[in-house]
Amino acid sequence: KRIPVNQMVTPEGDKVQSEMYTDSELFDKEMDAIFDNTWVWVAHESEIPNKGDYKTARIGRHSVIVSRDRKMDIHVLLNRCRHRGATICEKHKGNARSFVCPYHGWGYGQDGTLRAIPIAGPYEGVVDKEELPLISLRMESYQGMIFATFNKDIEPLEDFLGGAKKWMDLFMKQGGGYPIKTLGEHRFRFPGNWKIQLENTTDAYHFPIIHKSFISSLDGDTAEIFDFLEGDGFVEDLGNGHSVMVMIPELVDLEENLDDPIPARFEALAAELRAEGHDDDKVRRLVRAAAGSGFNLNLFPNVACSMAFFRVLAPISVNETEIQHIAIGGDGAPSAFNKTRIRLHEHFQGPMGFGTPDDSEAWERVQKGAGSGMSEWILVNRGQNLVQQNDMGNDYSTVCSEIGMKAAYKQWVKMMNAAEQGA
Ligand code: FES
Ligand code: FE
Repeated sequence: KRIPVNQMVTPEGDKVQSEMYTDSELFDKEMDAIFDNTWVWVAHESEIPNKGDYKTARIGRHSVIVSRDRKMDIHVLLNRCRHRGATICEKHKGNARSFVCPYHGWGYGQDGTLRAIPIAGPYEGVVDKEELPLISLRMESYQGMIFATFNKDIEPLEDFLGGAKKWMDLFMKQGGGYPIKTLGEHRFRFPGNWKIQLENTTDAYHFPIIHKSFISSLDGDTAEIFDFLEGDGFVEDLGNGHSVMVMIPELVDLEENLDDPIPARFEALAAELRAEGHDDDKVRRLVRAAAGSGFNLNLFPNVACSMAFFRVLAPISVNETEIQHIAIGGDGAPSAFNKTRIRLHEHFQGPMGFGTPDDSEAWERVQKGAGSGMSEWILVNRGQNLVQQNDMGNDYSTVCSEIGMKAAYKQWVKMMNAAEQGA
């Protein structure tokens, strides 16, 4: 028997049904009600810096092309030929003057206009090229983060981001005084539902347990920084499904604490930067930024800004999710700085890293448990005894609670119920 959508989460938001992760009909509804209906992150501007640069991304079940035209304007285009519907571009990234469909050769410009039909005879007087551009999505950006949506009526992006904007502003200082630049990416899939990843970004509680191998790979001082469960960190519900988890408060604002002693693990970097002739202030700024953000920002439904990377999730099916980790550094920053950022990224996130492989095993196990055939509640109530309200009226608590997950589920319930009522 199927559980109705409005009974998937308790009214208190403290439990979810196992079927949240396993019901394929629910998955289809989520793609319609959430991914086709809200702002979804598709790119950072630095991924397509030049005229003709493009990348492909996913919005729920759809593939889109994010392209920069000759005037440097950015377009988000549905990756689906207007002729017989074939996907036009299967590459992750590239540079192209036009997009030519491989099936019958219809050619589209960087802005999606249909330019050429190579064997035109059968279409003369049948098709008006102007009426068949690639479908163009609504797109807006904030701090270089490009979001797109199929929903023509949704609020402006900045209203949707709301309380998250302040944290995006802080995160974009990760270039150490230089503009943010993506430094490369890797992708992997795990056999589990997309919400298991969504929940994880603000789950501090797992850190000392499943990330033992990461912690054991650190020197003593650094390991102490990552012992943040008892610290002054917090989790805050930022509204609209977004949340932030501050693990290491002293790393949050890179313009502060610049006079702090340089940690031993960054002495070699500092020496290299000094040898290159950078002054003390710049060395300190770069060393501060090299350590990563000290907080995780979860933007509903598909992107997180964390430490030294963006983490993007793409639901593939009810029990498969693709994760993309995009390393970030500074555009024009000294190479020693960007190298340190990439090492930090690899150390935790890389396929051979000490962090993410352990996470993804845990996510797989949650999926296995959820799919074991027992209809059972899964708890989202950790730390509900600790919740307070801050002066913005937002729920917040020590780093140990599940406020971030609850924030995401509040938005999930709102969007899914609205769709059910409209159906
Ligand atoms: Fe694209 Fe025919 S499907 S040209
Ligand atoms: Fe983790």
